[in-house]
This record gives sequence, structure tokens and C-alpha cells, in this order.
Amino acid sequence: MENIGIILAGSNDTRFNSNKSKHVHKLFGKEIIRRVFNSVKEAGIEKIATVVGEKKEQIQEVLKDETEYIYQEKVFGTGHAIIKSREFLEGKNGKVLIINGDTPLIEPSTIKKLMEKAEENAATFLTAIYSNPKGYGRVVRNEYGDVVEIVEEEFCDNEQKLIQEINSGIYCFDIKELQEALEELVSEDGKYYITDIIKIMKQKELKVEAMILEDNTEILGVNDRIQLELLNKILKIKINTKHMKNGVTIEDMQNTYIYDDVKIGKDTIIHPNTIIKSNVIIGDECEIGPNAYIREGCNLANKVKIGNCVEIKKAIIGEGTKIPHLSYMGDCEIGQKCNIGCGTITCNYDGFNKSKTIIGNNTFVGSNVNLVAPVKLGDNTFVAAGSTITDDVPEYSLAIARQRQVNKEGWNKRN
Ligand code: UD1
Ligand code: MG
Repeated sequence: MENIGIILAGSNDTRFNSNKSKHVHKLFGKEIIRRVFNSVKEAGIEKIATVVGEKKEQIQEVLKDETEYIYQEKVFGTGHAIIKSREFLEGKNGKVLIINGDTPLIEPSTIKKLMEKAEENAATFLTAIYSNPKGYGRVVRNEYGDVVEIVEEEFCDNEQKLIQEINSGIYCFDIKELQEALEELVSEDGKYYITDIIKIMKQKELKVEAMILEDNTEILGVNDRIQLELLNKILKIKINTKHMKNGVTIEDMQNTYIYDDVKIGKDTIIHPNTIIKSNVIIGDECEIGPNAYIREGCNLANKVKIGNCVEIKKAIIGEGTKIPHLSYMGDCEIGQKCNIGCGTITCNYDGFNKSKTIIGNNTFVGSNVNLVAPVKLGDNTFVAAGSTITDDVPEYSLAIARQRQVNKEGWNKRN
């Protein structure tokens, strides 16, 4: 029996005040919906359908044909999104994971745990304790601690508003029981709430269970840009913590931005205000920053130094090479033990194409050099400061490409 999942992404949230669906806004370079989808997929759910609404093309552009799509033309609530999913559920047995498309920090391992716990239940859902539960549905339990219902904030009485256990919007339902409960789902103020399914199932005396998460940040939802900023901060700290545990020194956790899919070796030091984009590999004992911008596709061997205000992109850099300050090195391969002087840039773009710069081992590039790509500096070359290099430099050569200085003696006295 294959596991199936439904991601809800049909609403066009006015709280976001955006022309785009909130689900395609990015968190550290990756769309919210992409993050949710990847976690569901990594949890082992093979068949996934995504509920989309008015902004369906935007979501399709991100998830392409990795998911089926269910079209919800009018936003009549999360319960309505499930009513629209009836056809997808038809003829299937076992369990279905249903997840809000706006909870991007959910871990695959948590989804797996939920699915395991769900085995015997009609409904199982994730909850967490928030000291400030404002905006979330509250989990109402009876005197024995059993779940009774989820009450949306707008329907909470004063006592219920004080409840700190909140609904995550991540549920695992028995498909047959869900299909039956859907028959009884009615609208309130023209809206259908998925949360009412819990109450319906409890009234039918079916087994419903809530699983309280220890890490309550995992299920934070993104309903507006203020929450988006909060989640960015939390994700940043999670990623930085992971690297520090792996032996990387990060001097200033708050001002270091490391994207997903970055590998950093032991005893590398990251100075403040450094951004490292996705698909970057950094070796052991490197020194990066301050104020460095390491863009996609860089691969740094051990003991590389990337200093203050240096930007590199698709740069493959050999062991012990230093780019200490104020440089842009893009689309390049630099050998071992090179020194790239202050202000050196690769001129890698001619307005149409990107071209490569190749620099051999033990090469010294003086300050303020322009390397006009495509160009190649051999091993053991020396480039004089201020040069604009347009031709390849053979190994062991000195290249000077600048005008000679003229001194006009006494000129300034006469003027
Ligand atoms: C929802 C839950 C709330 C929970 C919170 C957790 C309901 C009624 N409330 O509230 O209990 O604490 O999430 O974050 O479910 N969607 C559709 N179609 C619709 C409406 C919504 O697909 O007609 C999708 C949205 O795109 C979104 C998700 O469902 O990704 C949740 O909707 P949202 O409006 O964010 O609900 P919350 O107010 O956050
Ligand atoms: Mg939400």
C-alpha cells in the first residue's frame, strides 16, 4: 500500500499583501511550497497531490510534474480543499497525510513519526505548545486529556483563547474514515474547516490522537511577511547550529547566512556578515569573511582564504590559495598556493556569454588586475599590479599590461 499526501496551497492570502501566492515566496532561496513538498517526499510519501487555486500557475512553475494538482476555484476553506480532493482519494486505502502548504520548517522525520503513530487512529495530528498561541487553532481536551476538538481562534471563547496547545495543520487520516466524515462536514459562514473533521470523528467515537512536538518551531506557519522574517531567522539558526556541531567556527550566528546544500569542513572559520549560497563546498581550515559573498557552485579546497568584501561565483579554488580582499572572481579555476591581490576581478561577461578564467598553481596576481576572460595564466606566473590581462600568460612569466608612468618635473609648480 503506497502512502499518499495532500498539500494545501489553494488560498491567496491577503495577509501577505502580495501579487504572488504566499507559497512561492522564498525562505533562504527556496520557495515555501518547495520546502513543504521536499519534506513530504523525503518522509517517504510517494504520491502527492497539491491543492491550488487562483495562483495555480505560480505553484506549478515550482513543483512542475512532481505532484498531481487539484483545482479549488474558490477559496472556501481548508475543509473545502479536502472536499475537492475526493476524486484523488477515491478507491484508495490506508492513510493520507494532509499538510498546510505554509509550514516550511517541518522535518521529514517528524512526518514519518506522525505516520507511524497514526497506524490505529482515524485521525492523528501534530500540535505544539506556544506561549503566544495567537492566530492558531486551539486544541481542546477533556478532563482525561483526550482531544475533543480544534477551535479556530475566531470561534474561541475567552477561556479557550488561553489554551496554549495549537494545531499545526498537519494531519494523518484514515482514508475511509475521512471520506465518511466529509459527508457530515458543513459550512460555517460559507467556509468549511478541516479542523471540524476532528470534532466529527470524536462524535463518532473514533480514535483521534494529537502528537505534541518538542521542537515547536517546526510547525510555525507563514501567514504574513512578519512570520516569514521570523522563520528566516529560525532556519538560519538551525543551519548554523548544524555546521557548528560539525566543527565549523561561526563567529556571529545572527549575521551568517548559509543556504541549504552547503558542505563546510572542520576548523573552517566564518567571520561575520558572510553569505554562502547553495551548492557550495568548502574544505577544512579555510577562513571566510568578513563580508564575503560565496555564490552558487563554488568548491574550495582546504586552507583557502576568502577575505573581506570578496565575491566568488562558480570558482574552483586549490589548497592554500588566498583572495584576501575586495575581489570578484567568477567562473574560474584557480590552482594551489596562489595569491590574488586586492581589487582583482575576472571580467567574465561580455554582455552575451560567460567565459572562464584559469589560473595555474603558485601564481601571484598583483593588486587591481582585470582578467578578461577567456584567459589562462600558467603555473608560477606573476601579474603586475594594475594590469588588464587579455592574452594567456605562459608559465614562469611576468605579465605587465599597463601604460608606463610619465613624471613631468616641476609641472605642479608652474601651474
Ligand atoms: C490553519 C488552521 C489552524 C492552524 C494553522 C496552523 C484551519 C481552518 N485552520 O489556520 O487550526 O492552527 O493553520 O498553521 O485549517 N488553503 C486551501 N484552501 C482554502 C483555504 C486554505 O488550500 O480554501 C490552504 C492555504 O493555502 C494554506 C493552508 O491551507 O497553505 C492553511 O490555510 P491558512 O489560511 O494559512 O490557515 P491558518 O489561518 O494558518
Ligand atoms: Mg497558515
